[in-house]
Amino acid sequence: MNWQETLDQLEKGTVRSAFKLDGKWVANKEVKEAILAAFKAGELHQFPNGFVDKHNLPPREFKPEDKIRMVPGGSSVRRGAYVSSGVIIMPPAYINVGAYVDTGTMVDSHALVGSCAQIGKNVHLSAGVQIGGVLEPVGQTPVVIEDNAFIGAGAVIVEGIQVSEGAVIAPGTILSRGVPVYDCVHERILEIGEPIPPYAVVVTGSRPASTNLTWANKLGLQMRCAMIIKYKDAKTSAALELEGLLR
Ligand SMILES: CC(C)(COP(=O)(O)OP(=O)(O)OC[C@H]1O[C@@H](n2cnc3c(N)ncnc32)[C@H](O)[C@@H]1OP(=O)(O)O)[C@@H](O)C(=O)NCCC(=O)NCCS
Repeated sequence: MNWQETLDQLEKGTVRSAFKLDGKWVANKEVKEAILAAFKAGELHQFPNGFVDKHNLPPREFKPEDKIRMVPGGSSVRRGAYVSSGVIIMPPAYINVGAYVDTGTMVDSHALVGSCAQIGKNVHLSAGVQIGGVLEPVGQTPVVIEDNAFIGAGAVIVEGIQVSEGAVIAPGTILSRGVPVYDCVHERILEIGEPIPPYAVVVTGSRPASTNLTWANKLGLQMRCAMIIKYKDAKTSAALELEGLLR
């Protein structure tokens, strides 16, 4: 499939830059290669209002019948991104090429959905959430946020981290491959790259500095970690209820 066709199909949601195979998310290398080919083929072009970008990756435009609310004020959805009907995009927000945003999801102000990120149904990306893009290497799985997950304001999720269905990431939490995740319910540390389990409630914690940093240890310095403090219960749902009222 050439890049034009790939971008068209990405926008229709008929191909995706990652998919679940036997319960595991895998990158769709062919699609990611086509996106890279589009960048290569693109020539710089002057768009209205003084914007300059590759001519073949213009901002997408929506019509009322698409049933996507993109509130005026500086948001942009790039060519080759899929946005389902029922999505709400508050300004300013950016959804990059290859991203997939499923129905009922809220992309709040100052949120970034990076290239190829996969966002499920009824996800809440609160204000200032940064979902990193993973275009290269083509074999690397992108950030995946599964259905009904809640990502609190200012959270940063990068480097192909996967957040399973219904998980709750507290405001300000940073999830990257270098940040260990302690599951305090099951008393274990997640493997590097292991998905955040379904319905986990994750907050920011701190741990003693690595043992090889002897000076830091002597001073009692701490390093960032993430902690699963509980699994979602009725109290958590009540804490997140506000969201329903916004729709
Ligand atoms: C993450 C969150 C949803 C969890 O809610 P919850 O399930 O009711 O959590 P609980 O109150 O049962 O928390 C359990 C413990 O973890 C602590 N805790 C909860 N969130 C924490 C956080 N972000 N950082 C540190 N500790 C936290 C609580 O103080 C509590 O401690 P305690 O047992 O000593 O009292 C909630 O803390 C939160 O961050 N809400 C903000 C949601 C939001 O952004 N809403 C805006 C919608 S637009």
